[in-house]
Amino acid sequence: EQRKLIDATLAPLKLSLTQLLDVKRRMRQEMDRGLARDSHATASVKMLPSYVRSTPDGSENGDFLSLDLGGTNFRVLLVKIRSSKKRSVEMHNKIYPIPAEIMQGSAEDLFDHIVGCISDFLDYMGMAGWRLPLGFTFSFPCRQTSLDVGFLVNWTKGFKASGCEGKDVVMLLREAIQRRNEFELDVVAVVNDTVGTMMTCAYEDPKCEIGLIVGTGSNCCYMEEMRNVELVEGDSGRMCINMEWGAFGDSGVIDDIRTEYDQLVDAGSLNPGKQRFEKLMSGMYLGEIVRNILMDFTKSGLLFRGKISERLKTRGIFETKFLSQIESDRLALLQVRNILHELGLESTCDDSIIVKEVCGVVSRRAAQMCGAGMAAIVDKIRENRGLEHLKVTVGVDGSMYKLHPHFARFLHDTVKQLSPKCEVKFLQSEDGSGKGAALITAVACRFRNSSE
Ligand code: BG6
Ligand code: GLC
Repeated sequence: EQRKLIDATLAPLKLSLTQLLDVKRRMRQEMDRGLARDSHATASVKMLPSYVRSTPDGSENGDFLSLDLGGTNFRVLLVKIRSSKKRSVEMHNKIYPIPAEIMQGSAEDLFDHIVGCISDFLDYMGMAGWRLPLGFTFSFPCRQTSLDVGFLVNWTKGFKASGCEGKDVVMLLREAIQRRNEFELDVVAVVNDTVGTMMTCAYEDPKCEIGLIVGTGSNCCYMEEMRNVELVEGDSGRMCINMEWGAFGDSGVIDDIRTEYDQLVDAGSLNPGKQRFEKLMSGMYLGEIVRNILMDFTKSGLLFRGKISERLKTRGIFETKFLSQIESDRLALLQVRNILHELGLESTCDDSIIVKEVCGVVSRRAAQMCGAGMAAIVDKIRENRGLEHLKVTVGVDGSMYKLHPHFARFLHDTVKQLSPKCEVKFLQSEDGSGKGAALITAVACRFRNSSE
């Protein structure tokens, strides 16, 4: 009886091959709509041009500052790139917390805080007064008109600072630097974290032409043919496109896959109705899906002796790291119970089995949805190049991909199954996206100097 109820509740979260192929097909349609001039305005996948036209070739050189804003950690970095025979990159970085009041405060406070951190970093490195070129990894959708102009389309994830949407974030940063009036910096490029990650990984592997993030949020970028990028003049060569695939489905095209739990998570988020694909998949939301299912099970008397504790009602208790721990196969059930205990949830052995099962179903669906999206991209690249077979590398970063014990494997398997004509290698980024932002900055500085 119990079993039947559990199976019935979890059934809509288990996707068939047909459903996944259908998600792949719809993602491809939305990509085409986002790229085309006449449908771009209404497309949910925005396909934003990045003005990055090639991956690194090893000739990049110089010292750069990078900012990395929008993931779990805000970092300021110094990146020293040497192009000599033995290419090398040396990095120094410091992590700075961004309090929630600042993430959700005003534009001025947010950018003053950022510039305050840069100032601290320069002191810390003994570099006060140096004027270095800076690459700004800003992990939110930006409409770019060149490498150093990025109008924030809308905030996503946990940010909601007022007075930023619609503004050029490079200008907001420059203004804050002027307000502080302590040092000068040359802001050369604004870069999405997917693009930074692709560049970081492409420095090691020239076949890397796709960047993927599955962390707090989720997004993807890839090298598209200029002839298909209708929003930018010119038909020759390629440009990296920041897909902003998190918004896939905001027009309703994946609502058949979204369950009542997904709708609850969406309704309780900072941006209801937005980023529907991302909310099926990334670290900021998966724990919440699990929590909502557990609440439902408890209401039906299947869990926690039917008692919904205050703890279980608390938003955000299941962080990615707990999900990853619960699903680790090395953990005995007793340890799962310990984790639940740490979260303030008293469980029996049976409870812990059910909790683990729920986590498994939710994270498997996440990885499969991600794989269906990725399958659409690799097949598009293959078609673009008129190839029967494509070999390509995806540079990946983000806590969900790196920490979860099964996510990566499910993702790889799904891509293999849905895109059999592509051989896709996943390369985990160990250096973050700040290195990629510095590489982009290096190329931009060289161009600038040679055209002066
Ligand atoms: C980091 C990158 O390693 O991963 C960031 O440097 C990126 O740019 C982040 O945003 C994504 O992962 P998470 O889990 O921190 O959101
Ligand atoms: C969100 C942002 C996107 C970013 C992704 C991963 O989806 O909108 O720009 O790349 O999170 O951090």
